Amino acid sequence: MNWMEDQHFDPVLPDFEIRGSRILLRPPKVQDEGEWIDLRSRNKEYLTPFEPAWSRDALSPAFFQRRIIRQRRDWAQDRAYSFLIFRHAASADEKPKMIGGMNINNVCRGAAQFGSLGYWLDEWHQGQGYMRAALRMIIYFSYNELKLHRLNASVLPDNDKSQNLLLRVGFEEEGFAKSYIEINNLWQDHILYGLVLRDFMESEQQI
Ligand SMILES: CC(C)(COP(=O)(O)OP(=O)(O)OC[C@H]1O[C@@H](n2cnc3c(N)ncnc32)[C@H](O)[C@@H]1OP(=O)(O)O)[C@@H](O)C(=O)NCCC(=O)NCCS
Repeated sequence: MNWMEDQHFDPVLPDFEIRGSRILLRPPKVQDEGEWIDLRSRNKEYLTPFEPAWSRDALSPAFFQRRIIRQRRDWAQDRAYSFLIFRHAASADEKPKMIGGMNINNVCRGAAQFGSLGYWLDEWHQGQGYMRAALRMIIYFSYNELKLHRLNASVLPDNDKSQNLLLRVGFEEEGFAKSYIEINNLWQDHILYGLVLRDFMESEQQI
């Protein structure tokens, strides 16, 4: 894949997908607009306590299109990588069903080579291991394609589901950051987690 070297990028997100046994991950497409708005609308009440404040137009087509433009730019400039998560179609005449999203944000190169994770899952698809599978796929992508050295994640202290998820995949708790990120209109403390990707790969080979 050569999106990082391509200086004269066509403003379209790369057309590829990462396939797992139950889910696939791929960059958002313009035609995802309707399904994305439906899914985010259904999850508004559930997700708002965990996310930066939703703007007044956060469920509008214009917001989605602005978001895609930003994601294209960030991808092309090696700043952030955005994915949507889909459950495989149950039969040949169905489409894969959108169930969430995952981003590798704040990619820092030079001597750092890390990125920060953000993720969310449809409330009705939780407790089934979908996000654990997605996280593992993103770890492989980060190591093999982006050549990152480390992934970071920060979690609200009472977000047990997210903390369990990170620990089960192999992240370690590394610290506490006071008033770290503005979530739902409040500057909130976060617990910091990290994963050294080479260590993860070595532990996979021992299984
Ligand atoms: C954080 C979040 C993605 C975690 O979702 P989740 O459903 O708990 O995570 P998974 O999809 O990996 O499912 C794991 C659960 O499924 C269970 N499970 C069921 N079948 C499974 C399978 N085949 N494989 C793995 N786990 C399975 C696991 O036991 C686990 O449950 P447990 O934690 O009670 O033991 C979700 O709660 C969310 O979107 N929260 C709101 C937004 C948010 O917090 N984002 C992160 C900000 S830091």
